Formats: sequence, C-alpha cells, structure tokens
Amino acid sequence: MKLFRQDTKVDALRRATLFEGLSRKQLVQLARVSEDLEVPAGKVLCKEGEVGQEFFVIVDGEVEVTKNGKRLATRAGGEFFGEIALLEQTRRMATVTAQTPLRFFVLTRRDFRQLIRDNPGVELKVLQALARRLIQVSGDPTLA
Ligand code: CMP
Repeated sequence: MKLFRQDTKVDALRRATLFEGLSRKQLVQLARVSEDLEVPAGKVLCKEGEVGQEFFVIVDGEVEVTKNGKRLATRAGGEFFGEIALLEQTRRMATVTAQTPLRFFVLTRRDFRQLIRDNPGVELKVLQALARRLIQVSGDPTLA
C-alpha cells in the first residue's frame, strides 16, 4: 500500500518540468521528503508580506498570483511557486490563491535548499523563473 503511494508520488513528481533531469533514485528521495496535499478553490497558500517556509509544486489545478490586489499570473500543473522567500530571507512578495481544487507538493525550506544544492539543473530552472518573475513585477517593458 505504502509502496504504491510512493510510486504514484514519484510519477507525479516526474511530470513536473522542474524535476526533468532527476534520476529515479532522486525522485524517490524527493517523494520521501515532500508532502502531497489537496485544498479547495479559494485557499490562500502564500500571503504577500508574510513569512514563508514552504515551496510548492502544482500537480493538478490552477493558482492565481496577485500583488497589491492586481493579478500577476496564473500557474498550473507542473509549475512551482514560493521560491523567493526561501532563497532569500524575505517575506512573500505576492499572494498565491487556489483558483480550482488544487493538488500539490510541499517542500520545507530545508529540503528545498538541499534540492537545489544537490541539483544544478533544478537550481538553474528556479533561477530562470525567478528572473522572469522579477522582470514582470518590475513592470519595465524594455526587459520583457
Ligand atoms: P514568494 O515570494 O516566496 O511567495 C509568493 C510567490 O509568488 C513568489 O515566491 C513566486 O513564487 C510567485 N510569484 C511572484 N511573482 C510572480 C510572477 N510575476 N509570476 C509568477 N509567479 C510569481
């Protein structure tokens, strides 16, 4: 029973582009340390200005990212959020709300940092997303 659950988890993790380069062994380890959760539409997962301790990877469903009440983006299956407050000791720069019932994985700050320390490919993808997100928030059209 437990094995089957872990296999399902590994398959779901494998589908996220972020984890594309990971070996089966690494995915199994990731499945072990990550928690898979489900929340209903409307649930706030990150709140702008609050301290954040978790990194999120969406399995199924959609979230909306807002800042000062304005929509920045929507994110869906395979995408991730919550990295900024974990990379640097800052507060959440935006609010992330489930728009549909959402299935996702959560990693603690410690496990997220370990993941990027051990996997340069994952680190690069996180940094690329970070750059894109900060450029978007800057609102400077010459950078887009
Ligand atoms: P963090 O600041 O920890 O918490 C809110 C999250 O929203 C943030 O990390 C990013 O993961 C995400 N986020 C912020 N800005 C954008 C953006 N422009 N596009 C997509 N996601 C964003």
